[in-house]
Amino acid sequence: MGRKTITIMNYEYILVNDQVTEYVAHIQLNRPKELNALNLQLMQEIKHALGVLDEDDRVRAIVISGNERAFAAGADIKQMAGKTAIDMLNIDQFSTWDAIRRTKKPLVAAVSGFALGGGCELVMQCDMVVASETAQFGQPEINIGVMPGAGGTQRLTRAVGKVRAMEMVLTGRFMSAEEAMAAGLINKIVPVDVYLDEAIAMAKLAASKSPLAVQLAKESVLKAFDTHLQEGLFFERKNFYLLFASEDQKEGMAAFVEKRKPEFKGR
Ligand code: HXC
Repeated sequence: MGRKTITIMNYEYILVNDQVTEYVAHIQLNRPKELNALNLQLMQEIKHALGVLDEDDRVRAIVISGNERAFAAGADIKQMAGKTAIDMLNIDQFSTWDAIRRTKKPLVAAVSGFALGGGCELVMQCDMVVASETAQFGQPEINIGVMPGAGGTQRLTRAVGKVRAMEMVLTGRFMSAEEAMAAGLINKIVPVDVYLDEAIAMAKLAASKSPLAVQLAKESVLKAFDTHLQEGLFFERKNFYLLFASEDQKEGMAAFVEKRKPEFKGR
């Protein structure tokens, strides 16, 4: 099985660990002075890094974080301010977001401080979310004369329901970590000094399972957002059958019967 080294570019706006431990990699948004505002280059860098990590068999789950003050305060308003509609069309920034959504491995967001606008939308592109007590989630685009554009009206509505999504999108009100927890937007709230460790622990847990099963299970859960129940059930069933072609299925079930820990190889 070809072991690849992580060839990380010299990124300007993100930090990527190349010391992968227990199959977990970490991408940190790194524009602290601008509260990690998501300019086009930063998004391209995330896309590139995720593409590399997704292909690397030393990586089975990926954590995305900002810093204590901000996960990300949204798309870069200064970069967008003078753009025309046709500029925005030609820039086609959402193809980058679409590529991020196609990441096969589990993504865990580690959120502290502001997760606003595109920042909240990036959180919602992740599969699981660990938040610090200081986390605040919002879609404040309405305050600057626009609206969410990277999935906010769709994913937030599915995550927290219509009236909560409407309030956030139409009034710009932020949601606290506690509200986000109660609404089903995040998995867990922890003290700020451990939010990253807890997110890494969650990623490690997923990374300890069969990577094939995790990949197909993620794909199946995401299918629930795209399709009707019957079609989704059919899709799930095919993926379930497919896993019986894997050595990991044989190993996982044999280990259960033999009362030992399974050793998953991703085959
Ligand atoms: C560019 C930003 C920014 C942003 C903050 N900054 N958010 N720059 N784009 N989205 C910059 C500020 O200009 C400032 O730089 C520095 O970061 C610190 O921010 P302050 O405002 O001084 O901090 P504070 O008073 O603590 O307020 C924090 C804040 C506020 C509440 C998060 O910064 C804010 O409201 N930011 C904008 C949030 C927002 O509207 N997001 C949605 C963007 S639209 P200087 O140089 O002045 O010190 C969007 C669309 C997504 O996301 C769709 C497609 C991807």
